[in-house]
Amino acid sequence: MARIWSLRHYFLLAFAVVYIQANEEDGITVETVEDDVYQTPNIDPKKVYLAEHFDDVSAFNKRWVKSEAKKQGVDENIAKYDGKWEIQAPSRKLLKNDLGLVLTTEAKHAAIATLLDKLFEFMDRPLVVQYEVTMQEGQNCGGAYIKLLSKGIKSKADLKQFYDQTPYTIMFGPDKCGNDNKLHFIFRHKNPKNGTIEEKHAKKPTLRLDDIYKDKEPHLYTLVVRPDNSFTIYIDNKEANSGSLLEDFTPAVNPPEEIDDPNDKKPEDWDEREKIVDPTATKPEDWDETAPAQIVDPNAVKPEGWLDDEPEMIPDPEAVKPSDWEDEMDGEWEAPLIENPKCSSAPGCGEWKPPVIPNPNYKGVWRAPLITNPNYRGKWSPRRIANPDYFKDDHPFRMTPITAVGFELWSMSPALLFDNLIVTDDENLAAAWAAQTFALKRDRISSQAESLVERGLKFAGENPWVYAVVIIVSFIMVGVIAYMCCGPRTPDVDAEIKKTDAVVEDDPHQSEGEQPGEGEGQAEEQEEREGKRGKSELEGADSETEPAEPKQVDTEGAGDGQRKRKPRKE
Ligand SMILES: *[C@@H]1O[C@H](CO)[C@@H](O)[C@H](O)[C@H]1NC(C)=O
Repeated sequence: MARIWSLRHYFLLAFAVVYIQANEEDGITVETVEDDVYQTPNIDPKKVYLAEHFDDVSAFNKRWVKSEAKKQGVDENIAKYDGKWEIQAPSRKLLKNDLGLVLTTEAKHAAIATLLDKLFEFMDRPLVVQYEVTMQEGQNCGGAYIKLLSKGIKSKADLKQFYDQTPYTIMFGPDKCGNDNKLHFIFRHKNPKNGTIEEKHAKKPTLRLDDIYKDKEPHLYTLVVRPDNSFTIYIDNKEANSGSLLEDFTPAVNPPEEIDDPNDKKPEDWDEREKIVDPTATKPEDWDETAPAQIVDPNAVKPEGWLDDEPEMIPDPEAVKPSDWEDEMDGEWEAPLIENPKCSSAPGCGEWKPPVIPNPNYKGVWRAPLITNPNYRGKWSPRRIANPDYFKDDHPFRMTPITAVGFELWSMSPALLFDNLIVTDDENLAAAWAAQTFALKRDRISSQAESLVERGLKFAGENPWVYAVVIIVSFIMVGVIAYMCCGPRTPDVDAEIKKTDAVVEDDPHQSEGEQPGEGEGQAEEQEEREGKRGKSELEGADSETEPAEPKQVDTEGAGDGQRKRKPRKE
């Protein structure tokens, strides 16, 4: 944690805070840097199945179709797909002339789709789907995933009827509700034996997903599925999940070869008891079940000097009846009781009773001992038989061809922005496309942060008091971080040791009882710290944003590896 959040970061952040505070008073806002670093990318349409940058409104209007369908089986008021889709500049403008597709409405069903330029068939080339999502107002509950629609959807008229039941081949992308942060990759597999279609869900991603739902920044989602049945998912070019269509999906593509015979039943006389009560054992003659657990100590003697006739408490001889006491109203006055002073020097006062001790002859209820069951036959399990539904599909990659893509969503947060969608069979081409679009945005985000700091420094140069504020703020922040990271432990431990010692003197049970709770608290604290560390790692990853790349997309598709991904298996 300390390594990632170096002191430099604190100073930069502190400068930024002070700078913004100081400028807000003057009504100066930090304006967006705009220049022409971005140009709408050009791509050879022959190389892709779809490449949509959403910068050209009229082209968009020609090819995309908004759904006019109704969702089945939901309340009539919300059944219509009437969520609004608009082509808009992002609310945080990063690149001049860059537009995106925005779902502007919340809490409405919304669907929009377009036909691919050509049919995607799952043959000997990988499927690569990549797009950007900016959750401009974060996300509380809702999806931002894409559906790759199956052959059968042929026309714009079909797209007008796009709804939740429209057959898709793959569903991919983010989805969240409450604390359930997902990144879906679902494919629909056709049972080769009887043609039934079943959804297969990929295992959980390995990257933490919190940030994409709350940082309001653009994130790039890439899915690559290969003819050898392997797949990889990237978020912002970082691997988020990978595996095999055959091994990493539930339910598994291929059913088990053998199953339990459903007709095999456990025989009536099957004895599964490993131990039984010894039937031959009898209670010994001298076993007295009635002997009490405790008895009065027969050897106890009354201590010398015990004052049998002195009560432990006596009326206070010095007390006087208050002058305003009225016996009629207040009852008869009695002096308050105090400890009898005579008892303090004697071993005890009042009636002496001998103490109670455990009874040495106590036996309790007699139970027969357990012995090994001579009729034990082990745990019963049904016979295994060949699975009648068994099949083996070695090529789940060969999915139903894709003719269209679309978003069919419900979102409780408005202003989801989609951008730079590409469907291709060439990973390098997708990488080059991202280098001209997404990478520029990430660069711009980091350079905006830098320029804010630069301007902060200049401002501080002109207003030296800023340094004092920065130093104070930094101290406070370092203090807070140090406290969150390691602070509470040391004082806590000391305090606990003292507390425990004190308690032990009084009552040993009490201190025992406290310790588990204390342990829990530490575990929580530990967890929390780990959570923060995990988050910092992800934040750290952001700073690895790649530099801007040449503007022309590599239309040869040769892909000079512009993207610094780890080498992929082909
Ligand atoms: C097809 O087989 C699967 C089991 O492999 C079964 O669950 C499903 O009900 C079958 N569908 C039909 C239409 O027979």
